Amino acid sequence: MEIKPINSYNKMSKLAAEMVAEQIINKPNTVLGLATGSTPVGMYRELVRMHREGDLDLSQVKTFNLDEYLGLSPEHSQSYHYYMYENFFKYVNIREENIHIPKGNAEDPVQECLDYEKKIKGLGGIDLQILGIGVNGHVGFNEPNINLEARTHIIQLSNETITANSRFFKNLDEVPKKAITMGMATIMKSKKIILMAWGAEKKKPILKVISGPIATEVPASLLQVHNDVILIVDKKIYSFSSAINSLSYPDKI
Ligand code: GLP
Repeated sequence: MEIKPINSYNKMSKLAAEMVAEQIINKPNTVLGLATGSTPVGMYRELVRMHREGDLDLSQVKTFNLDEYLGLSPEHSQSYHYYMYENFFKYVNIREENIHIPKGNAEDPVQECLDYEKKIKGLGGIDLQILGIGVNGHVGFNEPNINLEARTHIIQLSNETITANSRFFKNLDEVPKKAITMGMATIMKSKKIILMAWGAEKKKPILKVISGPIATEVPASLLQVHNDVILIVDKKIYSFSSAINSLSYPDKI
């Protein structure tokens, strides 16, 4: 795992966007795995800026989002569909048919999960996956548990996640209790992964990802066995403990 401690949210966003852009320039028909939440908003803003300035053509890019709340229609203002269009898709030239987000209001959600997994496989898997991290160490919506599901599935959200995500809803009761999420195997099969973490509340899960044991109770800790993960992390929450001395990071960003 390569660790890049960064001292401002804007710099983190720029660095992540530059890495995404580089991937797209090297492989114009890249299959991108995308994340939602407040962390990647700045990265999307940067990508939109690059596109507007003529430096980034996304016309051949294909995207797969990590997750979606079960029961929310794409038009719902808190759905991840809505988020993706408002923060990114509306402003760039990714073709509609190349955008994939699990349908939260699918008639048959189990079939939706199977179809989603099939589509990812059909396009050759994900080249670059962007991840955020939940306060409890979840990625996508893979919640801490004694067992994790490998592939795209329906998951019961933990109370911790429901509480954390209630900041986007009118009240706690409005937060959906279930979601569709890529599984950990779906994510781990991505050729390259960028995990971004910003803010004090991410210190605990990030330290577990960097130096903790690999445990299904911290789903993001599984990333330690992936051979191409870049962690772009808030410098303030990054502790230079002896356990992580062997890991590489740049001198200055
Ligand atoms: C949600 C999403 C995750 C995201 C997490 C953290 O639960 N399902 O993909 O990483 O929130 O969000 P934030 O970036 O807002 O802290």
